[in-house]
This record gives sequence, C-alpha cells and structure tokens, in this order.
Amino acid sequence: MNIGRLSLSNGLFLAPMAGISDSAFRMVARSFGASLCYSEMISAEGLVRGTGRSFEYLASPPGDKPLGVQLFGAKPEALAEAAVIAVEHSADLVDINMGCPVKKVVRNGAGAALMKDPARAVAVASAVRRAVTCPLTVKLRSGWSETSVNVVEIARMIQDCGVDAVTVHPRTAVRGFRGDADWRLTAQVKNVLSIPVIGSGDIWTADDIRRLKEVTGCDAVMVARGSLGNPWIFRDALREEESGLSAGAPSPAEREETIRRHMELALAIYGKSRGMFIFRKHMLWYTKGLPGGARFRKAVLQERSGEAVLESLHRFLQSTEATMPTDGQA
Ligand SMILES: Cc1cc2nc3c(=O)[nH]c(=O)nc-3n(C[C@H](O)[C@H](O)[C@H](O)COP(=O)(O)O)c2cc1C
Repeated sequence: MNIGRLSLSNGLFLAPMAGISDSAFRMVARSFGASLCYSEMISAEGLVRGTGRSFEYLASPPGDKPLGVQLFGAKPEALAEAAVIAVEHSADLVDINMGCPVKKVVRNGAGAALMKDPARAVAVASAVRRAVTCPLTVKLRSGWSETSVNVVEIARMIQDCGVDAVTVHPRTAVRGFRGDADWRLTAQVKNVLSIPVIGSGDIWTADDIRRLKEVTGCDAVMVARGSLGNPWIFRDALREEESGLSAGAPSPAEREETIRRHMELALAIYGKSRGMFIFRKHMLWYTKGLPGGARFRKAVLQERSGEAVLESLHRFLQSTEATMPTDGQA
C-alpha cells in the first residue's frame, strides 16, 4: 500500500505510544514485519525551543525506517516548524496527533482538543502541509465526547487540506480507553474518504487485525497495546493473511532471543542506565501470563546489570519450558 509517495510492503503499523514506541521497540516490531512504525508523540513546541527530551525522541538508528514522527501542539506555526525539524532529523512521514486525551496536552488546545475546534484543526493540518512535502497523516479519535462525535466531518476537512491518510481510534477523548472501540465509525470514515484510512482500537490478536479490515474496509491497521510483550503479532497477522493459519505462541527459545535482542538494542541506543530503565517495562510485558512470571518480575527488578537480567531470564524461561505443553503453546 502507499501513503503519499511512501510505498509500504504491508498494511501493518506500530502505533505511536508515549513512553513505549521508542526506537529499540520499533526495530523489534520491524523485524517481525511492521512496515511502518510511528514514534511516540513529540511536543512541537519542545522541538522548536529545543527543550525537554524532544530531540531524543527523534533519534533513530540505521534500519529504523520508514519512520513516522508524531507531533502534538496547538499552534499551526509551531507544528509547521517542528515538522520541518522532524524531516531534517529522521522523519519519512509526519503525523499530527489529534487524539491524545491527556489533561496537560488538551488544556493547551493540543491533541484531542483539536477535535473540538475544527477551524484550528484545519489550520494546523494546512500549515504542516505547506511546510513539508513528505507524506502527512493525522490521528483522530471519534470526537471529544459522546455528544460531539464528529470524526467523519473532521476527517473530510482534513483530507481537503492535502493530508495523505488518517488514522481513526474510534473512542471519544472523554471515554479514554473505556468501553469498546466503535469500529462502525472507522467504516463510516472509510466510506467517505478517498485517501487511505488506518484503523486502530482493540487490536489484541492477528484475528482482530483481519476482522478490523473486514468490518471497516480500512487500508491498514495500527497495533498498539496488542504489541506489548507480543511483537510476534505482526508475523502472526502476515502468516494468517498469507495462509489462513495462525502461527501460535513463540517457543521459549525464540522468546528469549527476542527479549535479549530488544534489551541489547535499548542498551546500545540509550546507554546502560537509561536503556535499562526504558527496557524494564517491556521485560514485564514479555513475561506476563507465563507460569511463575510474577515471582520472576519481582526478582528481576532488583537486578542492576544487563548480564544479570539476561541470566535470570534464561533460568526463568527454562523453568517455564519444563512446565509448558510440548507443542510450545501456552
Ligand atoms: C500507553 C499508551 C500510550 C499511547 N500514546 C499515544 C501517543 O503518543 N499518540 C497517539 O496518537 N496515540 C497514543 N496511544 C493510542 C494508541 O496509539 C492507540 O490508538 C490506542 O491504544 C488504541 O488501540 P488499542 O486499543 O489496540 O490499544 C497510546 C496508547 C497507549 C496504551
């Protein structure tokens, strides 16, 4: 599929997730087939003023391509300037966040607050469109609240600004993550737009990916919470698409190899101390649901060195292997 001039090998993307979609995790997701990975959201003002960790979030090692950089902000000029900076650094595609419901973002008029202010949403999208020639996407929610569901109207307006694709996470900002994502809204957006529509919301398995495409007709699917501790979901979905068969859970040896690779990437990219801090939460997700996982996680949080963590992991996975069914499925 294509987004603007970007040609992608499949329609499986890693979602932007604050504190999660760092470059190490993106590299792991890519290795299992994600064709486009988004950065976590980055403050446009932060990039323009050079404050906070904004520039760190733009960092992207070789191979971390194509990269979608997601920006948030409320001022058209700041977003336009930030988009230029993002492209100069690492972005192959720029995304504008119009879906974040977090208080400190929306109280400044950014994120999902833009869905309450269509004129500003259009001004932002138009300003960024004029500033950069790279593919441009916008990520939307259903609307601000249950009484102001306007994603279809906003998506249409955004398309008219020259945006190349939109992502729909069909829950309102007020709802946050509660309740089911309303995929019918994604289908409505797909029906009225001519640009590609990327579906998001309640994707936990390869089967969910297939169903979201079937139900909505969307062109691509973004995987968010379903990828935490399960980057194999991309491979599962690709296999299911090709052969109709599910790949099943990874073997303990593959799980260990992936975790080790993920940790080594985090340490190499971010340095030992910060890398370990960034990686730790992924380790918890990777071992969630495994027999004895809670005890392992408690113990591993005490470890200081990467080698010690990997050694404990090896012992833990060997012990789980002994208790698992012989076909490797858990
Ligand atoms: C921890 C976390 C952080 C997120 N951060 C962002 C973000 O920075 N930008 C964004 O557009 N969406 C963000 N999202 C929303 C996801 O991209 C996705 O749209 C949402 O989780 C719905 O998909 P899911 O139900 O399959 O998880 C975040 C979600 C989670 C769980």
